[in-house]
Amino acid sequence: MSFSLFRGAIFSSLMALGALSAAHAQQADPKLIEQGRYVSLAGDCAACHTNAGGKPFAGGRPIGSPMGNIYASNITPSATNGIGGYTEQQFADALRKGVNAKGQHLYPAMPYTAYRGLSDEDMHALYVYFMQGVQPVDNAVQKTKLPFPYGMRGVMFFWNTLYLDSGSFKASDTASAAVNRGHYLVDTLGHCSSCHSPRNLLMAEQSGAYLAGAKIDGWIAPNITSDPVSGIGGWSTDEIARYLKNGHVDGKGQAGGGMAEAVEQSLRYLSDDDLTAIATYLKTVKPVRDPKDSKAAYEYAGGSPLPSISELEPQRPDNSANPDAMRDVSTTDGTVLYSGACASCHQPGGKGTENQYFPSLSHNSATGMSSPDNVVMTILHGIERQGADAHVLMPAFGRDMNDEQVAAVTNYVTAHFGNPDARIDAAGVAQIRAGGPRPLLIRLTPWLMGGGVVVALLVIWLIVSVVSRRRRRRR
Ligand code: HEC
Ligand code: HEC
Ligand code: HEC
Repeated sequence: MSFSLFRGAIFSSLMALGALSAAHAQQADPKLIEQGRYVSLAGDCAACHTNAGGKPFAGGRPIGSPMGNIYASNITPSATNGIGGYTEQQFADALRKGVNAKGQHLYPAMPYTAYRGLSDEDMHALYVYFMQGVQPVDNAVQKTKLPFPYGMRGVMFFWNTLYLDSGSFKASDTASAAVNRGHYLVDTLGHCSSCHSPRNLLMAEQSGAYLAGAKIDGWIAPNITSDPVSGIGGWSTDEIARYLKNGHVDGKGQAGGGMAEAVEQSLRYLSDDDLTAIATYLKTVKPVRDPKDSKAAYEYAGGSPLPSISELEPQRPDNSANPDAMRDVSTTDGTVLYSGACASCHQPGGKGTENQYFPSLSHNSATGMSSPDNVVMTILHGIERQGADAHVLMPAFGRDMNDEQVAAVTNYVTAHFGNPDARIDAAGVAQIRAGGPRPLLIRLTPWLMGGGVVVALLVIWLIVSVVSRRRRRRR
């Protein structure tokens, strides 16, 4: 071993020791570690940083973005593959500024725009928990490779200049303690707006449409402002809190997709006080109304009369002897599909079972929304969720039914049980199956590239300077 290599080796072992001693020297107060664990649950860190079948926080889960997969980092205190070497300052910079210990910009798939507002106290507890309460795992995570120009992490510098708020969460003097607590949880740890707020051309959240609903990975994260027609103004505080804890409320809706995950990994662990605080705050959020909506989604109970039982019975395929029968069914008749694939749980009349474990498809926000996307996604992918009260499972039909069949059964469900105006065709289902509409920025990328990436950067630069100038003037 050459001298310089040897010196390098000693130097890096000393560095590693230094980092170890910083993090592990004194065993922290178990109460502080427990507080940090609660903060990590409220922040939903495990949802992204734990891979399917992997060890907690060991990373590797691909987070789909319109630009391609971004692999979540290993955030266990492993010195080789994790964040064992992070100082508290570096940890805080990753969460608040989106910059890792190597000084590289993180993609906003890591919700640092929300964690930006974390209090110093919560940040400290979170750091101590990750250093002392989490098992180190030496799992090497696959490198994220996005196509040019998004592979250049430096681009995020411009994006941050535009969209990263300055400063931490500020409580309002006029709001109650519960509203302030709920506001803090929603905007920072819960990062609810990362799914529930629509995004602009450069994929930042639109500030004028805070929590007004957005498409995400094929699902619609509904409007959760206090508007009684387009939002959840008609839900009681208690109903909202119960939805967050259990993932369902009779007569209102169920949590599928990313919301099922938020309930399972995060919200069901929160204290009742915190869930009530979130609900209380949501009831104060400025209402945003879609002029096309005339009544709340959960109020819809279908329009078309149901076919009579005698009409249904002869058509119902007998699947009992051959569970694969569904796969061969070539029918695109919604009535037949519904009675063969759905009615056993949701009942022929769509009212669900008595205890509502298999829920009614009327008075259900998924079937009453003006767009049928969440019905389509539920049919394609099913629902599996552990809530505080129960484990629920609806099987996925995405492999068994083609796009035309999914469209037929969706239209049957919305016409008879939900919002009869929410209709879809096979092409619409195909688009949702592929992950929903592609954002404008992505659709424009080839065009911008055609004109040269210089043009793209120039456009971004222009927008940066226009916006930051406007911001300055407003102050
Ligand atoms: C919505 C998904 C998501 C959630 C929730 C999330 N992260 Fe991340 N995080 C990511 C992704 C993806 C990356 C990698 C980003 C990249 O490569 O640019 C990352 C990177 C990081 C890094 C940088 C590590 C490194 O050296 O690369 C840290 C630290 C981190 N996350 C901590 C946390 C903590 C703590 C929480 C909870 C408070 C959390 N994350 C919640 C997706 C998430
Ligand atoms: C990963 C994306 C994601 C995150 C993060 C998220 N949601 Fe959701 N949310 C959804 C989706 C998708 C639905 C629709 C679920 C369905 O109908 O199956 C939903 C549904 C809801 C509903 C029911 C609305 C209705 O009309 O049925 C409420 C209330 C809600 N979310 C509140 C929250 C709150 C509060 C937070 C933050 C603590 C949050 N959500 C975080 C994606 C998300
Ligand atoms: C094996 C029983 C079962 C079958 C079969 C079944 N479902 Fe479900 N369905 C469920 C369960 C369980 C839930 C979720 C209940 C909860 O979240 O509390 C659900 C939820 C739903 C929802 C609400 C989704 C949301 O996001 O809120 C819709 C819509 C739905 N099912 C439609 C269908 C359709 C259409 C079919 C036939 C193609 C079908 N289901 C077949 C059990 C079933």
